[in-house]
Amino acid sequence: MLKIAIQKSGRLSEKSLEQIAESGISVANGDRKLVAQASNFPIELLYLRDDDIPQCVYDGVADVGVVGENVLLETGCALDIVERLGFGKCRMSLAIPKSEKYGGLTWFNGRKIATSYPKILQDFLDRHGVQADIHHISGSVEISTGVGIADAIFDIVSSGSTLISNGLKEVDTVVHSEAVMVGRKVALGQEKAAILEKLLFRLHAVQKGRKNKYVMLNAPAASVEKITAVIPGMKSPTVIPLAQEGWCSIHSVLPEGQIWEIIDQLHSLGAQGILVMPIEKMIL
Ligand code: PRP
Ligand code: ZN
Repeated sequence: MLKIAIQKSGRLSEKSLEQIAESGISVANGDRKLVAQASNFPIELLYLRDDDIPQCVYDGVADVGVVGENVLLETGCALDIVERLGFGKCRMSLAIPKSEKYGGLTWFNGRKIATSYPKILQDFLDRHGVQADIHHISGSVEISTGVGIADAIFDIVSSGSTLISNGLKEVDTVVHSEAVMVGRKVALGQEKAAILEKLLFRLHAVQKGRKNKYVMLNAPAASVEKITAVIPGMKSPTVIPLAQEGWCSIHSVLPEGQIWEIIDQLHSLGAQGILVMPIEKMIL
């Protein structure tokens, strides 16, 4: 049994559960108990406060945990990043009232900065030789300047709307963060390592599926060569003759980020009836 710590509620909890579900693992936990076992895979989920996850993994209460890099950095726990999960992307930035003139980091000398991440901030200030007063608060950091308890804030920025609605402007990005799976590889043992490997295999299949699209199109037989040069596919594209003489159907897998560019090319090469479909899982 592999014990996985995930955030009980908050920015990463829903996505963490979603990835587990998409890996075909069923965990029933209607009443959000502290611990829940999967019915069809040897894992157990521990629902914890995100700030507690690194230490719990370090102490062996959980074998691995899903947590934001921001929390991992702040706790300073010596854990391995087993996997970058690609969701919960955000940055950690310094922000000041938008009316302030900002000429660089020296602005912060002698100022008071409110944050829930004093360690990350202190490390950053030390590296840049800035002497500021860090005011540690556990939440609602964004209102600190408005109520006069600080001159600036250091906090998570995702869409940026929290800053805007509090009259703040982002002036320096300290670090980028995303959800990561953390663990202690040496401490796992053979059985748990095997379960983890099986879980990662499934996560990779889901992630790869997300990054690619299945594309089907019809093409005149004369253009097949040119078209297949544009869409390489996993091995090579599938080409199937259509009932209508002189026409083929071509199927391939294409990277999501290039879809529109490739469609434009396909179109100009005479492709018709182009269908783009999501891929649920992809194993190479
Ligand atoms: C963070 C941060 C901001 C908000 C920024 O809070 O403290 O309040 O997200 O996001 P935005 O740029 O999209 O507006 P979080 O949601 O993690 O909750 P918490 O502060 O209660 O931990
Ligand atoms: Zn938190």
